[in-house]
Amino acid sequence: MSAPAKTLYPASKKERSKIAIIGAGAVGATLAYACVIAGHASEVVLYDINKAKVEAEALDIAHGIQFTPMSSVSGSDDIEICRDADVVVITAGAKQKPGQTRLELAGATVGLMEKIIPSVLEVAPNAIYILVTNPVDVVTYVSQKISGLPFNQMFGSGTVLDTARLRWLVSKETGVAVQNIHAYVAGEHGDSEVPLWSCAEIGNVPLRHWGPTLSGGLFDNELRERIREDVVQSAYRIIEGKGATNYAVGLAVTRIIGAVLRDEQRVLTISTRLEDWEGISDVCMAAPTIVGRQGAGRVLTPPLTLAERDGLTESAQRLRQAARDLGY
Ligand code: LAC
Repeated sequence: MSAPAKTLYPASKKERSKIAIIGAGAVGATLAYACVIAGHASEVVLYDINKAKVEAEALDIAHGIQFTPMSSVSGSDDIEICRDADVVVITAGAKQKPGQTRLELAGATVGLMEKIIPSVLEVAPNAIYILVTNPVDVVTYVSQKISGLPFNQMFGSGTVLDTARLRWLVSKETGVAVQNIHAYVAGEHGDSEVPLWSCAEIGNVPLRHWGPTLSGGLFDNELRERIREDVVQSAYRIIEGKGATNYAVGLAVTRIIGAVLRDEQRVLTISTRLEDWEGISDVCMAAPTIVGRQGAGRVLTPPLTLAERDGLTESAQRLRQAARDLGY
């Protein structure tokens, strides 16, 4: 009797994808941990100049791989570990001290980018680059100039986290699931950011028509300003209490990475190069943008009130001036 015909199963086409994270501080290490739990890539690598720290962070995550979707994690102080990454996330930078604004970090951080960007570009020229280092909008603008990459290929985390904070606060006011709060924060990831209240919706109800909140108030200017102030003060409050923020920003950037690697074409308020957006040009700041495997795609132009447009123009001027002050 002849041997049974060998059944050739289609080879499982395991998409090998690689995320490289520059900086193994609180944000970088948490991001690596969140990416492994999310199962976004078959390989997650961490790079930092502090060899002991980066190896320890990678080892501590690798020990937990049994409990997560299959991937490998490693860390090194050699930039070679980033070779051929599909996504490179830059988190390395000066730490925001209690009460310090993000823009005050600009000088120390730009010098760092002038060193890091050329060396990582050498080993990962085709990656999508996501800047997280603060002040993220200025760092993104400067890094685009240093790298010369197309604007879609390099962008910042922008106000994805601020948008999540806003949605969480509105969810608390209304009792509606945060996933059904459709609202965006645009502009600077910082003190001049602008919640786009005029196009915010709860479910499919415009926020301005929502009616009483759980505490019986209305989404009037006073409540909106209080919520905006809560968003702006969030990082300061957390830094005051524990020295840094890391969990929510790690989850926010994991969401951005997922949109890229899974080609989700998801609308996210990343910090991208704006050219004639609402009359704003030659600056990187957050606007609702379609994100997929191409990186930063179409920037949406929601209907804005005059006050929102003025706020965004002011935000852009502040960021452009910060870049000019650094010679960019
Ligand atoms: C924050 C940091 C990431 O807003 O700027 O938590």
